[in-house]
Amino acid sequence: MKPIVNQRRLSEELEALSRFSGAAAPAVTRVVFSEQDLRARAWLKELCSNAGLEVREDAVGNTFARWHGSDPRAAAVGTGSHIDAIPHSGRYDGTVGVLGGLEAIRALKESGFHLRRSLELLLFTSEEPTRFGIGCLGSRLLSGALSPSVDASLTDEDRRSLREVRSNAGFTGTLDSVALPAGYYDAFVELHIEQGPILEQREIPLGVVTAIAAPASLRIDIEGQGGHAGAVLMPSRHDAFLAAAEIALALESIARRTGAIDSVATIGVCDIFPRAINSIPSRVHMEADIRDIDADRRDAMIRRLEDACTDIALSRGVSIAIEFINRDMPAKCDERIVETIAAVCDASGFAYARMVSRAYHDSLFMSRICPTAMLFIPCRAGVSHRPDEYASADAIAQGSLVLAGTMAMLAS
Ligand code: GLV
Ligand code: MN
Ligand code: MN
Repeated sequence: MKPIVNQRRLSEELEALSRFSGAAAPAVTRVVFSEQDLRARAWLKELCSNAGLEVREDAVGNTFARWHGSDPRAAAVGTGSHIDAIPHSGRYDGTVGVLGGLEAIRALKESGFHLRRSLELLLFTSEEPTRFGIGCLGSRLLSGALSPSVDASLTDEDRRSLREVRSNAGFTGTLDSVALPAGYYDAFVELHIEQGPILEQREIPLGVVTAIAAPASLRIDIEGQGGHAGAVLMPSRHDAFLAAAEIALALESIARRTGAIDSVATIGVCDIFPRAINSIPSRVHMEADIRDIDADRRDAMIRRLEDACTDIALSRGVSIAIEFINRDMPAKCDERIVETIAAVCDASGFAYARMVSRAYHDSLFMSRICPTAMLFIPCRAGVSHRPDEYASADAIAQGSLVLAGTMAMLAS
């Protein structure tokens, strides 16, 4: 029997999930371990239990919902994504992979499909860097890419450690227990909106991801000299914000001049101290996000940024410190899974394109511990991380259906 995705149920659940939000609709804000996140998790766990899945959580809140296969010794096939949402964003980023993954599993169950390998839905904790400053927190820990010592060292804006925040949320075990044992998954597939315009522009309903771009993020701290905005004359100033402005423009020009359209750089955080209109900024904290699908070219951008900072520090008489938050390698998706997704698309009569993911995903880290690939669906105008992010119910259902077919083949 062919699985049938219940498009209406899936759309209603996406709508329901979007209401667990700290922002007024259509915007969604769901920061990890906030009240909204915890309520959404409880709601989702209930959906999983109602679907007959066995739910467990690890010490950092990664949540696993398993449909047991007939062969208990066979490694499982995983799918999933995240439900945390950056401030003032939309309702589809991550959630399509979680609820679309759940719907795919339910569709297989309801079709009477016989499973050899277990199927597992995975909700990753904090794919977004909003609270603790680093993205893919849950999957970094699952894959062993991040030391459990971050429990004490990672803090949120209120200087509360990860250990304190997760314990308050009810996740109390030690982080040493989070890394998955070798061979836990035989395959992992993540469904996600493209977050770019290619599928829509080319009118192709599905993207089979072959590689995931390499993100790096860094903190830039500038120390200048504060003073009275009226009394300190221009030639005597060491304004930390003006140095920051020069750095931001230098970074833009570095990214534009690599000769590759895949080079991107963003400064999305800029805090000025003391932040008073009549006071010369004495300190600035910035955070930069630099990416490319080619790690060497990305690293060359970083080196040019470091050189630019040395020059700017000298010319403006300020000090500039750069510290890496993360500097990850790109991931290549597993060919067997890529071919399986392509075969399912062919068999269903759906056109697809092979493509690179420019956004990062938990799959970047899952690919370090098991064969991994991703499936993209189009989103309107490629918009993401904005309240007007949109993917049609048809596109989501189609993604969920292809995911179901892919997991069926991988789990047989
Ligand atoms: C994920 O949200 C990213 O920033 O790529
Ligand atoms: Mn995101
Ligand atoms: Mn995402």
